[in-house]
Amino acid sequence: MYDESVTILDNRKINEKYYKLTFRCDRLARGVKPGQFMHFQITPALDPFLRRPFSYYRVHSNRVEILYEILGKGTGILAGLKTGASLKVMGPLGCEFTPKIKGKKRVLVAGGVGVPPLVFLAEHEKIDYLLIGTKSRKEVLPKKELAKVKAEILYSTNDGSYGEKGFVTALLEEVIAKEGAENIFIQTCGPTVMMNAVMDIAAREGIEGEASMEESMACGVGACLGCMVRTPKGWVPSCIEGPVFRFSQIVRKGCIA
Ligand SMILES: Cc1cc2nc3c(=O)[nH]c(=O)nc-3n(C[C@H](O)[C@H](O)[C@H](O)COP(=O)(O)OP(=O)(O)OC[C@H]3O[C@@H](n4cnc5c(N)ncnc54)[C@H](O)[C@@H]3O)c2cc1C
Ligand code: FES
Repeated sequence: MYDESVTILDNRKINEKYYKLTFRCDRLARGVKPGQFMHFQITPALDPFLRRPFSYYRVHSNRVEILYEILGKGTGILAGLKTGASLKVMGPLGCEFTPKIKGKKRVLVAGGVGVPPLVFLAEHEKIDYLLIGTKSRKEVLPKKELAKVKAEILYSTNDGSYGEKGFVTALLEEVIAKEGAENIFIQTCGPTVMMNAVMDIAAREGIEGEASMEESMACGVGACLGCMVRTPKGWVPSCIEGPVFRFSQIVRKGCIA
């Protein structure tokens, strides 16, 4: 893990929802695996004081990209940074999605800020389905961003303006009906409410899988205990033992361990 000063090569809005930021750095690019993340110090000023975590979206040689949306102050400032500006970035952090699953169809279920790590995974591994849920057509990633994904890509939008109308979990139900629950392994990342719905379906159908937990993170290195996830063996820091966890390793609110 390194803490590096990087210079922004490019930082632009690519659609209604996402911005893409690119920099070069040998150390932050070396050996990175889909699911891992970086911790960005967005400004040397005191506000926002804490770093902000972002998943690796794409790595080519020493070129690193993140895909992000503006949620609050930190991401708002990030979106305003121009080419040539400097950032301190710590990484690679956390663990990866399981890269190979033998004998199962791989179904990725993505929404919101969970799209980047799953696109990264889908570009690197043999994936069968990539299911993406958005609010409307305006938030759908430009086609060229998904050009290297070989999986079948299915969209759902809340308003029906692109793909199927409704939630991404409806697409998951269709894939399960087509392929059979026993033949599927799910990997998911996105809003908590979406991942909970995915895990409810998985539990009902007896499907195993992994979720990348997007807990708020202060230190990113296991020191502050601000990102704890409850597992059958107790509370563990998501920044160290995650962010990717097996469904069976996550004890959700309302569930008895
Ligand atoms: C491991 C990990 C990987 C991530 N990868 C990405 C990524 O690739 N792209 C991306 O855009 N974002 C990603 N995020 C989320 C990103 O870190 C937050 O959006 C960011 O920290 C918000 O900072 P802010 O100062 O703009 O907002 P804040 O002012 O801190 O918060 C604004 C709003 O955003 C909500 N929020 C804050 N943190 C999160 C979070 N972790 N998940 C969901 N909502 C949150 C807050 O509850 C609040 O409502 C990731 C988070 C984690 C933990
Ligand atoms: S962010 Fe501090 S322990 Fe995980």
